[in-house]
Amino acid sequence: MVSPNRDMGYDVADYLAVQPAYGTLDDVRELVAQAARRGLRVLLDLVPNHTSDRHPWFSDPARRDWYVWRLEPNNWIANFGGPAWTYHAGLGRWYLHSYLPEQPDLNWWHPEVRHAFDQIIDFWLDLGVAGFRIDAAHVIVKDALLRDNPPARSDDDRFTVLRGQRYLYNQCRPEVHEVLRRWRSLTERRQPPAVLLGETHVQDLSQLASFYGRGDELHLALNFAFTLSPFQASSLREIVERTLDMLQPLGATPVWHASNHDIPRFPTRWCEGDRRRIELALTLLLTLPGTCVLYQGDELGMVDARLPPGVGHDPVGRDRARTPLPWDEGPNRGFTTGRPWLPLDDATASVAEQEADPGSVLALTRRLIALRRQLGPYRPGQSSQTSWTYWRGTTRVTLDFEGPAASIATP
Ligand code: NOJ
Repeated sequence: MVSPNRDMGYDVADYLAVQPAYGTLDDVRELVAQAARRGLRVLLDLVPNHTSDRHPWFSDPARRDWYVWRLEPNNWIANFGGPAWTYHAGLGRWYLHSYLPEQPDLNWWHPEVRHAFDQIIDFWLDLGVAGFRIDAAHVIVKDALLRDNPPARSDDDRFTVLRGQRYLYNQCRPEVHEVLRRWRSLTERRQPPAVLLGETHVQDLSQLASFYGRGDELHLALNFAFTLSPFQASSLREIVERTLDMLQPLGATPVWHASNHDIPRFPTRWCEGDRRRIELALTLLLTLPGTCVLYQGDELGMVDARLPPGVGHDPVGRDRARTPLPWDEGPNRGFTTGRPWLPLDDATASVAEQEADPGSVLALTRRLIALRRQLGPYRPGQSSQTSWTYWRGTTRVTLDFEGPAASIATP
């Protein structure tokens, strides 16, 4: 969508048009059609929590109440650091931004905001997209009274302790569920129903479970307790088994991902580039029950790029995980004949190279994807601090984090 790119597209200035550098609406139609021919469906990233400060809504006097204003700021902090409020000299008031000051938060208590997003969702579904990844899905509705957040306590999760306050009033408000239900009903009008995948950045697994509602909210909620867990058998096992215990009674599908565009890639973050650890992590991701989301490059074991100093666009330093995919050994590693937004580095073998090698990470990923279709229900096996065995039906998966080594025994 059209964006001044202060936050790489997460600051939208027009929800109903394509960023000119990427093409046109006709290109989206073509993309959707070409993908369908290959058995693929396309999801879009939808950013409902905030717009760009360049969105015409933000400067429209008739739409002032579409944003969140205060005469004095409360104590909320922005997810990128600093206060969540910026003074608007022209209006003599402060506006809320959960991220950059150039990303003012929308006021989800306003019925017209809700209506505008119904139309945005319908617009893209009409165009043929299969659903949405909902950005900051847990953040959108704020406390109606904008109360101060309480201080963190020493027994809170490590992220809460680090930022010094509990995100009690600025996210996960009960009223967010109404909005999710509203969107779910829009998706159900489609044949086949469209899918909603939430960026639900919470550590508390019961909170995570709440975003599935009673089968009437998100279809899929990204599990950040798993993603941000240390790469240790005991920690990952505990999170996985608690998640399954929580979601199974709801009939909800768990979602596992280990990389995304906001954090270092898992081959770097979890595995320090170690090939055997990368294979272990992929085996885990692709043999757990539910849905696995691979970030571009995960299938190659792609590590974070080394970028020369001064290269990059992101105000909070996430560029190293955002470099393009290496397709081959041609110029720009086959990604583009133009200028890529970030340079390609050569730390990871390209798709072409890996396709030619049956022992490559890509070949392993493909074997695991083929295998996962045949796996039965999850059952815990023998485990210790450093190793974890589980069954998927009659298939046994053993992950030895100390080795490191992963093995799969099929009957
Ligand atoms: C989460 C997105 O993944 C991240 O890239 C973005 O900066 C924030 N939401 C704000 O939209």
